[in-house]
Amino acid sequence: MPRPAKIFDVQLLLPEGERTVQVGSEEHIWDAAFAQGVVLPALCHQGWCLTCAGHLESGGDTDQSDSVSYYPEDREAGFVLLCTGKPRSSLRIQTHQASAMRKHRKEKKLPAPYS
Ligand code: FES
Repeated sequence: MPRPAKIFDVQLLLPEGERTVQVGSEEHIWDAAFAQGVVLPALCHQGWCLTCAGHLESGGDTDQSDSVSYYPEDREAGFVLLCTGKPRSSLRIQTHQASAMRKHRKEKKLPAPYS
C-alpha cells in the first residue's frame, strides 16, 4: 500500500492579499492553488522560465526535483518555482517574484530566461 501523501498549509502572500491553500506532498504548489481558485503566474510549467517564482518568507523547504532548472543558489536565496515545487513543510510564500528571481540569477551569472 502506498503511504498517503502528507498535506501542508501553504500561505500565499499575493498582491491582492493572503490566501492559504492545502498542498499535498506529491502535488505541485501551482496546481493545488489553481484547484483552490488561486491563479498564479506561469508560462512553461516546467520549472525553467521563472515566471511562477515565489520567495519563502519563513523558511521551510520545497522539493524542486521536477524543475528543469533549479540551482543550489536559488534555494540558498529562498526562491522557489511554484509550477514544479512540492512542499516539504508548511510554507509562507511571497508570490509574483519573477523579476526578483531573474535579478538574483543574473547576479549569480546563472540562466535568467526572459530577463
Ligand atoms: S512557469 Fe516556468 S518556471 Fe514555473
